[in-house]
Amino acid sequence: MSRRRIAILISGRGSNMVSLIEAARAPDFPGEIFLVLSNRPDAGGLDLAREAGLPALAIDHKAYSTRESFEQALDATLTEHGIEFICLAGFMRVLTNWFVERWAGRMLNIHPSLLPLFRGTQTHRRALDEGVLVHGCTVHFVVPELDAGPIVAQAVVPVVPGDTEESLAARILVQEHKLYPQALRMVCDGSARLENGRVAFSQSWDAGGALHSPG
Ligand code: GRF
Repeated sequence: MSRRRIAILISGRGSNMVSLIEAARAPDFPGEIFLVLSNRPDAGGLDLAREAGLPALAIDHKAYSTRESFEQALDATLTEHGIEFICLAGFMRVLTNWFVERWAGRMLNIHPSLLPLFRGTQTHRRALDEGVLVHGCTVHFVVPELDAGPIVAQAVVPVVPGDTEESLAARILVQEHKLYPQALRMVCDGSARLENGRVAFSQSWDAGGALHSPG
């Protein structure tokens, strides 16, 4: 199977981007990162991408008068680079239906909660406010409705007494960095596929035990 040509879209520090770049260096990884794009010229992740030897471009959304014209520029750059698949990794612009539908089935996102809980922002604050004892992160296909796409992979992280937004975010980020490359691998090698709006898996896995929190 040929390796899929992947672009990563970021807006900030790019730690998930780095985990994807590192994973995709494995000779058997079924995709290759060809491009990093940011809507913010000051995104720290752009320098990290360049240090990793990748083309890293900023397309500043503020330079465009409409969301549509910004996305057309984004789309044209992706097409010029022959990109087949997009990973959103801390990309903080809401995308229009036009862009999402154009990349339907070819765009993943990572979200810092166990979807469908806590769509949107401030997920860790809201999880603490609700008193949930397990929280986590989700990789999903992107659909027009925000944080609502078919789920490819999830990681569950216990919430412990004394947790703050920062401590919880830090523990979840460690899992994000494992989960996103694993999910991307499954999508690129076809072991997780979109079928009728859901993700179908070609392998089953052990149901194992359960995470009890408190355990
Ligand atoms: C991550 O928590 C991700 O789940 C969310 O935005 C954050 C991006 O962090 N979508 P980074 O830029 O990958 O470090």
